[in-house]
Amino acid sequence: MKIRRCSVLYIESREALAIDWSALFAGTSTLAASTEWIALVPHLDREIGIDATELTVLGAISQTVWSERDACEQRLDAPAIARLLAKGLLIGDDAEHAAVRERDEVLRAAHWRPMAALVHTFSRWTDVRSETGMEAPTFQELLDTYGEPPPPTLELGAPGSGVKLPAPASGLLDETMRKRYTGRNFDLQATLPLAVAARLLQRTFGAQQVRRIGDSATILKKTSPSGGGLHPVEAFVLVQRIAGLTPGLYHYHPIEHELRPLRAMDAPEAAATALQMVADQQWLADAPMQVVLVGRAERTFWKYRNHHKAYRALALDAGHLSQTFYLLAAEAGMPAFITAAINDVEIEQMLGLDHLRHAVIAVCGCGPASGARDMAELRYGETGTI
Ligand SMILES: Cc1cc2nc3c(=O)[nH]c(=O)nc-3n(C[C@H](O)[C@H](O)[C@H](O)COP(=O)(O)O)c2cc1C
Repeated sequence: MKIRRCSVLYIESREALAIDWSALFAGTSTLAASTEWIALVPHLDREIGIDATELTVLGAISQTVWSERDACEQRLDAPAIARLLAKGLLIGDDAEHAAVRERDEVLRAAHWRPMAALVHTFSRWTDVRSETGMEAPTFQELLDTYGEPPPPTLELGAPGSGVKLPAPASGLLDETMRKRYTGRNFDLQATLPLAVAARLLQRTFGAQQVRRIGDSATILKKTSPSGGGLHPVEAFVLVQRIAGLTPGLYHYHPIEHELRPLRAMDAPEAAATALQMVADQQWLADAPMQVVLVGRAERTFWKYRNHHKAYRALALDAGHLSQTFYLLAAEAGMPAFITAAINDVEIEQMLGLDHLRHAVIAVCGCGPASGARDMAELRYGETGTI
């Protein structure tokens, strides 16, 4: 049997602090610190404790070249090798280790920058709800807890040395940009007209032009810019109240301009799904349409292989699409929202996505405002606290 190390492995020295009761009674230091090694591996999607012997073994086995297990056991600690195979940190080439090997191969094939794979994997949320720690403090509560934030701008250069610029001329986008705001008081009775949803989806996520390159490759022109022109971010739509559509999950096809049904739901299930997606932010879940922005890492990393900036570009792509979505909603007289405070893992499960290939980045949504101001909003021209 041959073995090699998993492709992406980071080791964290983690410290746990505890009260040292014997020291407390003896009148000396009361804080006891203990450290342990934690292996962070995206292919297993969990943290794994290891000991010092296992750490040494991991550092002595190639992640690229397959080595004979017998030969490794002669030069390294054999029981530690067995433990690391059982933990999935060493990969075996036999049938017994096929499941872990398959996950490691998915990771290798996706061309992630290792640090990015780590950040993405371990920044995902699962089952975050109001009871499990989801907090939404107001600005005033933050001020009360943390004191003054850093000032709103940088103040560089000598006072009075700034070059005053002319007042901006009016432009076509002004009105729409000023109408844009994040809605947190959606009208639960309102249904989004299908034509409005269709325009929002097509003008934000749809292909404005399809170009062939070579024999079979295709690139899309959209209304937002995209790193490498690859447009890796796809839209999955949770319909709650859109005229003529059954509630449930759909994939928006950007070339065909159609919603492809993934799972039909009744209205209560769609509402519960929305709430779970946005980690109990009821003020966002009330919107009649939610759109999950999913970055197809494999498409971006096809060009930007093992690239320092690729993951950043993926997130920026989603941000651009969100702003376009907001502006189109404002044009239609509606507020919109975006949130990254989402239960990524549950969203992956409901959409059948593998986080190593498809990165759930954010959830957007929009709909008519109710007119109430139960939750804070920051609308242009208004005053007051948020
Ligand atoms: C990346 C990002 C994440 C956000 N996350 C949340 C969120 O979790 N919940 C929420 O209510 N608003 C969220 N917002 C909306 C901001 O709070 C909002 O944009 C900000 O308060 C300014 O208000 P405005 O959009 O109306 O100008 C998010 C915005 C961005 C850009």
